[in-house]
Amino acid sequence: MKIAVLGAKIIGSTLARKWARAGYEVMFGVRTVDNPVVQALAQELGAAVGTPAEAIAFGEAIVFAIPGNAMEETIAAHGPALAGKIVIDAANRMGGGAMNSAALFAAHAPAAQVYRTFNSLGWENFEDPVFDGVPADLFYCGPTGAGQAAVEGLIGDAGLRPVRLGDLAQVGLVDTIGSLWFTLAFGQGMGRQLAFKVLTR
Ligand SMILES: NC(=O)c1ccc[n+]([C@@H]2O[C@H](COP(=O)([O-])OP(=O)(O)OC[C@H]3O[C@@H](n4cnc5c(N)ncnc54)[C@H](OP(=O)(O)O)[C@@H]3O)[C@@H](O)[C@H]2O)c1
Repeated sequence: MKIAVLGAKIIGSTLARKWARAGYEVMFGVRTVDNPVVQALAQELGAAVGTPAEAIAFGEAIVFAIPGNAMEETIAAHGPALAGKIVIDAANRMGGGAMNSAALFAAHAPAAQVYRTFNSLGWENFEDPVFDGVPADLFYCGPTGAGQAAVEGLIGDAGLRPVRLGDLAQVGLVDTIGSLWFTLAFGQGMGRQLAFKVLTR
């Protein structure tokens, strides 16, 4: 599968590294295509670099790994190009109100298949998601079908176990997991090397 990763710094580079190693074709979508840091990263990973528009055209799955305050402008600019694409919203909008961009995708890209995930843990836990031999769980929500299989594959190939919370109506619950992570990591001083596991029998 071809993946467009919009944003190439902390989260974008961490996830792209995992997916490139797992054999996905990756293209970064960035504002400054000739940024030497991004070019070096892409060369290391065997990835391509283009504008956000070029990356969206390339990708079957589009991962938003840009600052939350850039989401509205970016989604509005590329809404029609997202039609039919698998969209992964990893961005957290920190300014109050919803942390996710589900309403923006609904308004500007109603034909996209939108999933909320990779937002609820610090990046360190995507880089190394195994705790004492146990892979962390990663919660997500979004539609069933082909997109679901693709998103579960991307989570699994990053080394985590996908746990679906339901369709996109559960986006607030996924964000609550992110709030729980912040509360434990910082509020309770447990640190950023922290993830979640669902136990069943
Ligand atoms: N860091 C984490 O642990 C973590 C975990 C989960 C989710 N997230 C979420 O992931 C997103 C990215 O976080 P990050 O830590 O990776 O941030 P970051 O290191 O600051 O990277 C942001 C990336 O977005 C690009 N960018 C900045 N403004 C943009 C704009 N207006 N339009 C398009 N691209 C823009 C930056 O490129 P330039 O070089 O051009 O500025 C950079 O590549 C955030 O929404 C964050 O909430 C982060």
